[in-house]
Amino acid sequence: MMKRILLLSLVIVAAVSTSCNNSATNKNPVRQELFGNHKGKEVYLLTLTNKEGNVIRLTNFGARITWIEVPDKDGKKDNITFGFDEFESMINGDRYFGAVVGRYANRIAKGKFTLDGVEYSLPINNGVNSLHGGPGGWHSSVWETEVVKKAEEPTVVFTLKSPDMEEGYPGNMNIKVTYTWTDKNEIVLDYECTTDKKTVLNITNHAYFNLHGAGNGDILDHVLTIQSSAFTPVDSNLIPTGESLPVAGTPFDFSTPHTVGERIMDEFQQLKLGGGYDHNFILDNASEVDATLYDPSTGRYMEVITDQPGIQFYSGNFLKGTLIGYGGKPYNYRSGLCLETQHFPDSPNHPEFPTTVLNPGETMKSTTIYRFSVK
Ligand code: GLA
Repeated sequence: MMKRILLLSLVIVAAVSTSCNNSATNKNPVRQELFGNHKGKEVYLLTLTNKEGNVIRLTNFGARITWIEVPDKDGKKDNITFGFDEFESMINGDRYFGAVVGRYANRIAKGKFTLDGVEYSLPINNGVNSLHGGPGGWHSSVWETEVVKKAEEPTVVFTLKSPDMEEGYPGNMNIKVTYTWTDKNEIVLDYECTTDKKTVLNITNHAYFNLHGAGNGDILDHVLTIQSSAFTPVDSNLIPTGESLPVAGTPFDFSTPHTVGERIMDEFQQLKLGGGYDHNFILDNASEVDATLYDPSTGRYMEVITDQPGIQFYSGNFLKGTLIGYGGKPYNYRSGLCLETQHFPDSPNHPEFPTTVLNPGETMKSTTIYRFSVK
């Protein structure tokens, strides 16, 4: 009897402490807590728990994904994306880990483009080019946060108003990014953007993945597929030359599974120029799933599904081990990779590429899904 009362009271204590914590449960699948303050605005950490009991974390600083905790083939859970334990490290750490990147993901040559005869100049922050929307791009903004209470699955909406000429780009823009963490272990990213002046736009998410678990070795043994028959080769400044090069017979052919490391050291000029893979793959858009990533040792499997015309596959070539991530583990050279669904780099200077122009009255809508499972 005594034991039963004790047990019962333990259950009650557990229930009370859970609700005090505002812990993410299925009844309350999104927990929002203060993480810090940046430029006078509150930065939150949002913990989303789906019905499988799997957890992702987001923050409104850069509308980022900071944590993706999914099981391996033995059911052992681990976080497989890059981020930091402390708020300060996140603010001062890598600019793009998990962030929504805009207004223009990737590079614009020499930071210049012309629209209707007007030349626009952007901040130069990457060699001679402008990268990822400039130093004050969307990755560094504190977004408005809304937890969608009535959603079927954990859902968070981040919104941002980007004023006319911010980082050199024309038009007042409204940006809305909706994250849904589904019960099938999918991160669904819905983007919506409008402008009041003709402008250019290329939005992506810059999450780094390591399916062993973030900070656990490199990604060279990850098996990758990309449903792409051609890629856009680059010059020595990582700017597309304008050509589309067939991948067949090259280290860029991931239309059948290959490990990332298998050909990365090949004597192939584009690999030398990129320091590894850092290229836009033109998607065939012929199948539902556009890219897959598999780690044979843990069995973790990721599928990427997008309506965007390209994927920038970046093999973490600029990581140097200087950034210390979760649990004190450094982010070493090629210890994470990105599959950034997007338009082609430098499109405003390449009329032959799909257009990135957005006009007033139009709404740019796009969806990318990262789906996690085991094989
Ligand atoms: C993108 C670029 C890379 C690099 C990373 C950020 O993937 O293509 O060259 O700039 O972002 O480090």
